[in-house]
Amino acid sequence: MEEREGIIILLHVFVFLVALICYIFVRRNQRDSTNKLPPGSLGWPYIGETLQLYSQDPNVFFATKQKRYGEIFKTHILGCPSIMLASPEAARFVLVTQAHLFKPTYPKSKETLIGPLALFFHQGEYHTRLRKLVQGSLSLDNLRSLVPDIESMVVSALDSWADGRIVHTFHEMKRLSFEVGILAIFGHLEASQKEQLKQNYSIVDKGYNSFPTKLPGTPFKKAYLARKRLQKILSEIISERKEKRATEKYLLGCLMNSKDDNGKTLSEDQIADNIIGVLFAAQDTTASALTWILKYLHDHPKLLESVKAEQKVIYQFNDDGHLKLTWAQTRNMPITYKVILESLRMASIISFTFREAVTDVEYKGYRIPKGWKVMPLFRNIHHNPEFFPNPQQFDPSRFEVAPKPNTFMPFGSGVHACPGNELAKLEMLIMIHHLVTKYRWEVEGSESGIQYGPFPVPMHGLPARFQKESIQEKGEVCGACYDT
Ligand code: HEM
Ligand SMILES: *[C@@H]1O[C@H](CO)[C@@H](O)[C@H](O)[C@H]1NC(C)=O
Repeated sequence: MEEREGIIILLHVFVFLVALICYIFVRRNQRDSTNKLPPGSLGWPYIGETLQLYSQDPNVFFATKQKRYGEIFKTHILGCPSIMLASPEAARFVLVTQAHLFKPTYPKSKETLIGPLALFFHQGEYHTRLRKLVQGSLSLDNLRSLVPDIESMVVSALDSWADGRIVHTFHEMKRLSFEVGILAIFGHLEASQKEQLKQNYSIVDKGYNSFPTKLPGTPFKKAYLARKRLQKILSEIISERKEKRATEKYLLGCLMNSKDDNGKTLSEDQIADNIIGVLFAAQDTTASALTWILKYLHDHPKLLESVKAEQKVIYQFNDDGHLKLTWAQTRNMPITYKVILESLRMASIISFTFREAVTDVEYKGYRIPKGWKVMPLFRNIHHNPEFFPNPQQFDPSRFEVAPKPNTFMPFGSGVHACPGNELAKLEMLIMIHHLVTKYRWEVEGSESGIQYGPFPVPMHGLPARFQKESIQEKGEVCGACYDT
């Protein structure tokens, strides 16, 4: 108990010092410039508006501010002054046109667990080099060859859920998106190595949002140790593949074969950090999107019928599922695709992101001081009635016309935009195909709402029961009775 209080006091002292430094820094900066800061309130210098942000729905917090101050406003969260950007133009300014003036910033604890050399912590040459490698390994041409494997993974996942028990949908989706991540990174991997990666990574995963302390026995310390074991496992896989001299197109192969202008290859640490980075970027995001899709389809039976109709045509064409789904078929599912886009808009899984100004920057007459955080608010833009009429309504047909430029950014924008977006969407298309053609699912409990972990997920991870449809229908006199 004493230990814990000690930590809490230390934490307070730490936050206070950070706040004080930020405060002095801001004061100094304010004196020597003529441009004004954006409107908004910084709250108390000590904790700023963090309490307010965490004591209410974050959407309400941002939306209230936006209403009061407009597209750009300042606030004070997590110990540092920040500027929030709620307009497409401002987001584009920070992420695309002036991206070089804003560097990515993440909590130190995340950097420690993922590995500081992962691409999303970097800017400039190193970032560009790694980004090309990651993007190349996830190109459409490479994804095309993953379809049969992803399909098998989806089929066996669904099969394992349909035994009458209550399934924690989000957990199960996490397993699936991890499997697909491993596939995209390594191609085929020996079962024992995969199992070791899975076990140790799940310990790291539990540490991401735990209090960062190296005290023994804490989730963070356990995660830290598991991360070291992952390094060893990855190093073994790398030496095995070096021996085989396999030149394959999966991410690991691309990283291993890369040479810079001077012929230098990437170090083992650089490779490992980027592999863990991609696993991290791919898992919860995709799992959250898949879980939301199940919820939205469940809550909109008419829509589910039209998705079913679209998918049944493909299913029947494939000899009632005896033939494998083809790449071309996944590229031609217009109704299903719009459901995915609308799910991404509604759920806005990455609600906002953080950058830090590397120098004083001027935007529309306002000054963004060096060292301040800036936060493009994707979710607010996605829920602004000016760009998406009736934003709270789930309506895939709104995507019959393309959204206005820079108003739809579920995968971010600019130099750090998501290189995994096509893989994520492919996974969703394949999942929906098999789900709606062969299964029924019922959501357990009537509690609705959102949990943040930190990505938004339906309440309790959407507990649900899955049933194979064909078995159902055999015992029924008339299939239509079921719907009434
Ligand atoms: C529905 C699923 C996904 C969503 C909503 C999503 C969203 C995003 C967003 C918004 C960013 C930009 C963050 C920023 O600018 O600060 C990003 C970056 C990234 N994503 Fe995704 N992502 C998803 C799936 C994936 C998958 C499947 C992979 C890989 C297989 C992946 C790999 C990455 C990587 C490596 C970055 C960093 C890129 C860079 O810094 O240059 N993501 N993602
Ligand atoms: C983690 O990896 C090590 C190999 O470094 C392995 O022996 C162990 O079984 C794995 N799983 C756990 C839970 O530690």
